[in-house]
Amino acid sequence: MQIAIDGPASAGKSTVAKLVAKKLDYIYCDTGAMYRAVTYAALKQGVQLDDDVALKKMLTQFDLKFIPADPEQLVIVNGEDITKQIRFPEITNQVSLVSAQPSVREKMTKRQQEIASAGAIVMDGRDIGTTVLPQAEVKIFLVASVHERAVRRYKENISKGIETSMQTLEDEIKARDYKDSHREISPLTQASDAILLDTTSLNITQVVEKILKFIHEKEKNK
Ligand code: DC
Repeated sequence: MQIAIDGPASAGKSTVAKLVAKKLDYIYCDTGAMYRAVTYAALKQGVQLDDDVALKKMLTQFDLKFIPADPEQLVIVNGEDITKQIRFPEITNQVSLVSAQPSVREKMTKRQQEIASAGAIVMDGRDIGTTVLPQAEVKIFLVASVHERAVRRYKENISKGIETSMQTLEDEIKARDYKDSHREISPLTQASDAILLDTTSLNITQVVEKILKFIHEKEKNK
């Protein structure tokens, strides 16, 4: 079964998707990490983040690997482990620009579809239910209030030793929501057949349980 989990920044998608995949013994694919990795590579190689032609060329020499590891899978690009670097604010605040470029989307979408062709997969992102896997059997659209998402990101940052103010985080989340929802290609939108799940007042265990329940119901009705 293919399970698509989409939603805005910091709605808890990757935490929840990882746990659901573990419970089901499915493959987990974090598509946001792929766009972050492209952004990292572009910054490192001095490629302009909105230069689609230059990005396309860069992607001909872009060897991306996910390596399973605990607590998080490793992201390796051209032999370099960039797992930690792709979470830095420098990347977070610029990734929307790169992910709006047509050739980047085309290449990443193809790669994601190849990864998902194995079948038993939980994939999270912005356009999985609408563009990457429109045929996914279960589609979840996870949302939470801007304030709640900023609180979650604040705690996550603190645990990684990154200091930021709540106001800055709220502003960044709003800006990223706007850019991700208003880009031309595959903007963030809820698929018509996706289940809307508001996690504002739910903890991680409750969200995972709800999603597993949807999946089991789907299996029963097959
Ligand atoms: O989920 P995340 O915050 O790691 O995603 C980083 C960025 O990548 C996000 O701002 C938009 C982009 N993205 C996308 O355009 N399509 C996806 N399927 C996943 C992420």
